[in-house]
Amino acid sequence: MRIDALILAAGSGTRFGSALPKQFLPLAGVAILQRSVAAFAAHPRIRRVVVVGDAAAIRQHCPDVVGLPVVAGGATRQASARAGLEALAEDAPDAVLIHDAARPLVPTHVIDSVCKALAEGAEAVIPALPVTDTLKAVRAGVVERTVPREGLHRVQTPQGFRYDAILAAHRTVRASDCTDDAGLAEAAGFTVRLVAGAEENLKVTTREDLARAEALLLGRFLPRVGTGFDVHRFSPGRPLMLCGVAVPHPLGLAGHSDADVGIHALCDAIYGALGEGDIGTAFPPSDARWRDADSAMFLRHAADRVAARGGKILHADVTLICERPKIAPHAAAMRNRLAELMGIEAASVSVKATTTEGLGFTGRGEGIAAQAVATVLLP
Ligand code: CTP
Ligand code: MG
Repeated sequence: MRIDALILAAGSGTRFGSALPKQFLPLAGVAILQRSVAAFAAHPRIRRVVVVGDAAAIRQHCPDVVGLPVVAGGATRQASARAGLEALAEDAPDAVLIHDAARPLVPTHVIDSVCKALAEGAEAVIPALPVTDTLKAVRAGVVERTVPREGLHRVQTPQGFRYDAILAAHRTVRASDCTDDAGLAEAAGFTVRLVAGAEENLKVTTREDLARAEALLLGRFLPRVGTGFDVHRFSPGRPLMLCGVAVPHPLGLAGHSDADVGIHALCDAIYGALGEGDIGTAFPPSDARWRDADSAMFLRHAADRVAARGGKILHADVTLICERPKIAPHAAAMRNRLAELMGIEAASVSVKATTTEGLGFTGRGEGIAAQAVATVLLP
């Protein structure tokens, strides 16, 4: 059976209320639309995936979707679904799954169940969950009556249909305010079958939903811990950069880049958690481009690598080891700067310092050492 998937991504996300429509926002580092598309593109029963939405916006915010056919949407969800269905006509499938881009966590077993019901001959199939809360009809903040929840279900996507049947329903049914495609199928008189939906298949409608989706997703990730260590020798005539902050001191640190020993240790901790070598792998010291480079770019790169792997930096802890300068007066600024560079909360970053009681090279004031630990969640 040839089954195509339509991913509806032409909405403006009014209830979410962000400048960028919600389907383009990152969910644990990967755009919501990208996650929805990937669920279907990776499914063995899906022949092709077509996205309904603004092609230029998709190219800009979801570059990984490039290569898939994109069809312009309409003013309502129903109009967008219709546009997508019409676009499939040239190489018509036997059946089509219509999915909200705003449901990025759709589990494989839900897609399986819908496809299976279609293969068994159902003309319309929807994933649904029984309502478990008590329902009240309310007017002006006051309960009018209790609505019996017996038999009531919350409906999700993907909804599956015989292609010819749902296209005909979209073309003929007059209703113009259906918020799902099964509504049209019902109006056209089809039998709509239910399969089990899933709680995690939530629709991102508000910011609260996005936080819930992220918590669900990160709950499946594994924490990885990386450590980093670095040393630089004091050198006169250079500014002293530590953890992204210029610290007033008669001596700076020698090094190929700006020699920010704190950032270098932190980068190595992040690369270590990723298992991607160290700072020298990404930025070879033999390369003249990094001479006197602002180490901020190294840390941004490490954080970008975490995002590219679909992960998240949970926490970072840096210890600077030196007798002078005193770090405490600068620790808050360093913490804020590192957090800013990694794109995480300052509360998730720690910067502290210790001396070595006058012992060793740090004790003799020959240089500064730094060690760091980074905790990263990875899928
Ligand atoms: N959708 C669409 N075309 C529209 C309206 C909605 O393709 N004209 C898509 C949305 O992008 C979303 C899905 O249909 O993936 C479900 O719609 P909804 O959650 O209501 O998203 P929005 O319409 O974007 O949000 P809002 O209703 O808050 O404006
Ligand atoms: Mg809407």
